[in-house]
Amino acid sequence: MTRIAIDPSRSLGRLDRQVFGGFIEHLGRCIYGGIYDEGSPLADERGFRKDVLGLLRELRPGVLRWPGGNFVSNYHWADGIGPKDARPRRPELAWGAEEPNRFGTDEFLEYCAELDTEPYICLNMGTGTLDEALAWVEYCNGSGRTAWADRRRANGRAEPYRVRYWGLGNEMYGDWQVGALSAEEYVRTATRWARAIRMLDPDARLVSCGMNGWNDWDRIVIDGLAPLVDMHSLHIYTGSDDYWTNVLQPHQAERAIRCAAALIERASYTKKIASPPRIAYDEWNVWFRTDDGTLEERYNFSDALAVGTYLNIFVRNCRWVRMANLAQLVNAIAPVVTTGQAAVTQPIYYPVLMHVQAALDIAADVHVDGPTVSPLGAGHHSRWPHRVADLGPFGLVDAAATTSADRHRLAVTLVNRAESEPETARIELRDTEFDGPVRVATVTAERDRGRRTLADVAGVHRTEGTEASHGPAVSVELPPQSFTVLEADLQG
Ligand code: AHR
Repeated sequence: MTRIAIDPSRSLGRLDRQVFGGFIEHLGRCIYGGIYDEGSPLADERGFRKDVLGLLRELRPGVLRWPGGNFVSNYHWADGIGPKDARPRRPELAWGAEEPNRFGTDEFLEYCAELDTEPYICLNMGTGTLDEALAWVEYCNGSGRTAWADRRRANGRAEPYRVRYWGLGNEMYGDWQVGALSAEEYVRTATRWARAIRMLDPDARLVSCGMNGWNDWDRIVIDGLAPLVDMHSLHIYTGSDDYWTNVLQPHQAERAIRCAAALIERASYTKKIASPPRIAYDEWNVWFRTDDGTLEERYNFSDALAVGTYLNIFVRNCRWVRMANLAQLVNAIAPVVTTGQAAVTQPIYYPVLMHVQAALDIAADVHVDGPTVSPLGAGHHSRWPHRVADLGPFGLVDAAATTSADRHRLAVTLVNRAESEPETARIELRDTEFDGPVRVATVTAERDRGRRTLADVAGVHRTEGTEASHGPAVSVELPPQSFTVLEADLQG
């Protein structure tokens, strides 16, 4: 049995809905054939796939990052505005494709409005210039009679878009990045960019380009840019054919957050920064199977357990993590997959959906006491170089909780990683009691695969019910390899 003690009055901080953000990149079929499919009977008159939009709307992403990713480092945004047939087709260096530029800034920002999400644009620090970046900000946000603001008006948008989030480059440390820089070069360039962008748009929220949280790159960049940015970004991808490695590796994110937070704390102290930057996990996911320029990863349910754990981690660490972007949303390493005829969901869609639907205002401290797993030796089969074997042991059940601001409602998200046995979770509240039965929704791996039309996409099995509470306690049986959400009313 796993006992989970929750004290709703012990707040870990306000949960920012932007931790349920997404990311779409011009890569494979993410944009073209995914988000945007001109001429498809499933698309609206703007070319937006309605079935995809419907599935993404359910995920209510708090923020949407675009246009890359590696793609952005050779993207000239001005190619993607104005009459579509006059837009140039360009070689695309990051993924070895061609960019038709039919989906550009106005299409992206219209898509964000349609999805009711905040745009987050990553700037091209590879082949792009500061001038070009300033022009992009001016095009989106300028309210004066300046040339780029007028271009926006001429293209049909009178009001400024008020894009707040701007990323200072993507993964500028990597040799796979067009125009990669050393950490020192990056700090020098990004400092110039940050100052100029702020002069043009004082409301801009800037995100520095981080690595994994514990690298020297992060240390140098945080030291150099912490006074100038609102967030420092981290990226993490994990995954392995080995079940335990796959489900436990997301805990690397917890170390990354601790390390990056410590670097930020140090910089804030030495540089006397009154409001230090927070962390944007602006790319995260399971990804280890495909590296072919399409990244059309087919997910199974152990990946869904990892995704549920990542979101638990972001909830628990919401004091530091203010934004997180599932990479990506459609076709490329994505919860939603399209064909010409349909859009379907992969197993990783469901923990995201259930987290989003359940999450309340404030993260509450959760103490888990139960069987643990030690990932001894785990990590050997992983494509990714970071290890998990030096961390742990980890609870067999991973838990996070949120409460409403008035503390009358509670939501608990539980990942049971036991491979073949159910595990009883007993929730015990401190200083309050449940008010009535607890609503329980669980997903496990699909049992009846025969009914699927798209044979290569796995589904999930979902059950819903209620469990009687007893004063401050409720016991729930978690099936093996399951993700469960409990939602409860609490006595006032
Ligand atoms: O999301 C796929 C790729 O992963 C992104 O383009 C890049 O930023 C990261 O390496």
